[in-house]
Amino acid sequence: MSNTPNKWKHVWITGASSGLGEYTARILAERGCHVSISARSLDKLEAIAATHENISAHEADVTDGDRLKEVVSEIEAAHGPIDLCILSAGAWFQSSITELNIENFQKTVDVNLMGVVKSLDAVLPGMLERRSGHISWVASVAGYGGLPNAASYGATKAALIHMAETVKPELEAKNIVVSVVNPGFVRTAMTDKNKFPMPFLMEPEDAAEKIVSGLEAEKFEVAFPWQLVWILKFINHLSYWLYFKIIKRLV
Ligand SMILES: NC(=O)c1ccc[n+]([C@@H]2O[C@H](COP(=O)([O-])OP(=O)(O)OC[C@H]3O[C@@H](n4cnc5c(N)ncnc54)[C@H](OP(=O)(O)O)[C@@H]3O)[C@@H](O)[C@H]2O)c1
Repeated sequence: MSNTPNKWKHVWITGASSGLGEYTARILAERGCHVSISARSLDKLEAIAATHENISAHEADVTDGDRLKEVVSEIEAAHGPIDLCILSAGAWFQSSITELNIENFQKTVDVNLMGVVKSLDAVLPGMLERRSGHISWVASVAGYGGLPNAASYGATKAALIHMAETVKPELEAKNIVVSVVNPGFVRTAMTDKNKFPMPFLMEPEDAAEKIVSGLEAEKFEVAFPWQLVWILKFINHLSYWLYFKIIKRLV
């Protein structure tokens, strides 16, 4: 099966009221797909939808599994079966383990990990029935290995990469394509609050182009920018003593 943007008649993107989700929605809408965008901020979603006839706005918190199911049936009734979903909703709280904030840790797990699981629970049954579709979710290069101050975020993103590896063979056998998107630093509302240096920071438009072209090519891993991806993949293959020697400098 080859999913060119023309073949993706209907795309669902979560976390599309800003950042990567928003920019990816704009590109796909421009290419002629209908893009159903969801997040919690209906005002922001509606403002985006007002800029393109191919975008429709739907309020949905990814921690609310029932609402996600409602949204999937509403948008499929209105725009046809979802061919591609991009699960991009995410939350980031800098988290030092010496100042553990259980509430933020729980929120990170609920949005980043369980939000993807609940979104899948809503979208996957239809794809399985149709024996077609492409599912993708946005993890992060922070999921490759432990990085300072990212205990909760990194753990959820590592889990998402692991989950993608786990489900790919099973879903491929049902003719469903699986992709995991691993961005490095991208200038969005999420990173605007970061006080630390962000090497190889990308603009969201460029990151969204990478996402669309990677998904178009049906890549399993869509990762960028290549410099940060290579560095992190390399240090994650070192022995732990050397890995920690390098990582300690970042604390
Ligand atoms: N920017 C980066 O450097 C970077 C790097 C690696 C990975 N990522 C990942 O990329 C994804 C998109 O992040 P971004 O950089 O584009 O940041 P962003 O602009 O802050 O976007 C985050 C999106 O998630 C939505 N969201 C948050 N909590 C939600 C919830 N409970 N239910 C539904 N939607 C929710 C937000 O909308 P509402 O607040 O309206 O709900 C917003 O649309 C995230 O998964 C993030 O972890 C980003």
